[in-house]
Amino acid sequence: MISFVWAESKNHIIGVNGHLPWKLPNDMKHFKNVTTGHPIVMGRKTYESFPNGPLPNRLNIVISRNPDYKVPESVVLITDKSQLKQYVKPDDEVMVIGGEGIFKLFAGDVDRLYLTEIDHDFAGDTKMVALDYSKFKLIEKKEGVVDDKNIYPYTFKTYQKIN
Ligand SMILES: NC(=O)c1ccc[n+]([C@@H]2O[C@H](COP(=O)([O-])OP(=O)(O)OC[C@H]3O[C@@H](n4cnc5c(N)ncnc54)[C@H](OP(=O)(O)O)[C@@H]3O)[C@@H](O)[C@H]2O)c1
Repeated sequence: MISFVWAESKNHIIGVNGHLPWKLPNDMKHFKNVTTGHPIVMGRKTYESFPNGPLPNRLNIVISRNPDYKVPESVVLITDKSQLKQYVKPDDEVMVIGGEGIFKLFAGDVDRLYLTEIDHDFAGDTKMVALDYSKFKLIEKKEGVVDDKNIYPYTFKTYQKIN
């Protein structure tokens, strides 16, 4: 099964200058909870945006068109999505974590969406791809806690593809 995991602003921004446009530690915790133990699939630029290298306790799979792109031994490099099945088990929940081109690449395959909706407009250079939400059912919704470290209102939403 393919799932998407991402955070998106009110104006559909997901990134700026190779980083997230906001600081929301509670969303980072949510991302960790949702993805730990599952393979994560990401574009080369998203991989390079991690300050401390590959994310622990998850198989990190990086997509690049450059077959010579260097990754540590624990990380899998693929150059085409057809190679994914060599590295994941049929019953794995494969977490596609962006960015824009990678969401576009898997938009026809996705079964579940883990969206953090941030109720604030941000300036940015990377947008979420348009998804057809009429093909999905909202199965979980939880308001995020706003405090001095998480200053923007946000909601965690989970959608499941309608069969
Ligand atoms: N808000 C969120 O939840 C979220 C999630 C993820 C990322 N982001 C943000 O989004 C930005 C990065 O996203 P991005 O869209 O610019 O880049 P990206 O999708 O992470 O990476 C793009 C790279 O992926 C490779 N690629 C793309 N399509 C491919 C294909 N069909 N086949 C093989 N390789 C392919 C290419 O690598 P090569 O150039 O090496 O060939 C391409 O340059 C950052 O600002 C990041 O912080 C936000």
